[in-house]
Amino acid sequence: MNPLAHWWPVALSHELRNTPLACQVHGTPLVLFRADDGRPAALPDRCPHRFAPLSAGKVRDGQIECPYHGWRFAADGRCTRVPGTNLAPCSKPLLDSLPSCEAHGLVWVSLGAERPLAPPVAPAEHRQKLDTFWITDQVQCSLQDAAENFLDGFHTHFVHAGWIRHDKQRQKINTRVRPLADGVEAVYSEEGKQSGLISRLFEGERGASMGRFRLPGLAEIEYRDRRDGLNLLVSAWLTPCGDGQLRLFARIATAQGWLPAALKRSVLRQLFRVILRQDRQILEQVSANQRRFQASPATPLDGPQDLLGPSIRRLLEQGQPIAFEERQLEIWL
Ligand code: FES
Ligand SMILES: [Fe+2]
Repeated sequence: MNPLAHWWPVALSHELRNTPLACQVHGTPLVLFRADDGRPAALPDRCPHRFAPLSAGKVRDGQIECPYHGWRFAADGRCTRVPGTNLAPCSKPLLDSLPSCEAHGLVWVSLGAERPLAPPVAPAEHRQKLDTFWITDQVQCSLQDAAENFLDGFHTHFVHAGWIRHDKQRQKINTRVRPLADGVEAVYSEEGKQSGLISRLFEGERGASMGRFRLPGLAEIEYRDRRDGLNLLVSAWLTPCGDGQLRLFARIATAQGWLPAALKRSVLRQLFRVILRQDRQILEQVSANQRRFQASPATPLDGPQDLLGPSIRRLLEQGQPIAFEERQLEIWL
């Protein structure tokens, strides 16, 4: 996949206030800040003068001030002030600003010089009123491994034993795997209530559920009730930062109901923290093991129950939608 052709989320909107924020996307260290008009700006995190990290500086009047000698840079990369001189700052940008925007509660940047044609990838739409909150994390693993892990039901009996499902209490489920305009989706039907704790606490009778991956890095899990109302939608945007690290921005949305949002949030947040810790542990073990076997790399061996993993791999390799026939499968989840 060509990362230059896409928008990548780099921060939660509400994290970016009046101080600079450092981030890294595909190995490029950036500084984020808000310009005068409140819009996000992204510049390389390196002052051109003596290479100090601009993210250690300050935001002044919508411009970033270097912590070393105080040179100031506007959102477009122009230097507007060189303290101690009265030389007119040059009109040509000294830093290459990156296209940035704000959408769906996130700040996005693009590494290409041009703004990508497609807008940032949005969460699934719902007509219901939703309670939402965010969880962010950083994991040492690849985008592909994280996306597959997030959407794969068959590890839950082991990695999250008792939290999501039990190995000894499986149910027969019909699945349909189909291509999407920008990804792939598995639809699970005839799924009764799960045996794990999360399901017992937060779900009524389950209708259908979906797991989907959309380019360049959105993984979503959606649980619907029997009347097609939403129980839970988890949208996880994944951004490779560099050095094998991956940033995760997960939005957890539940239908508004009788439970106060703050209570639901605090219980769900703690549960998701546990699940995330368990996933992080196995994902980091997997990437450490891949490094141990660097000298003899291997292609992963897909099983029949790997519903989405192989498609995710092809989508990420090719960087564009892939054509395949919709297929149905019976599984024991
Ligand atoms: S290093 Fe930034 S002003 Fe000198
Ligand atoms: Fe998991």
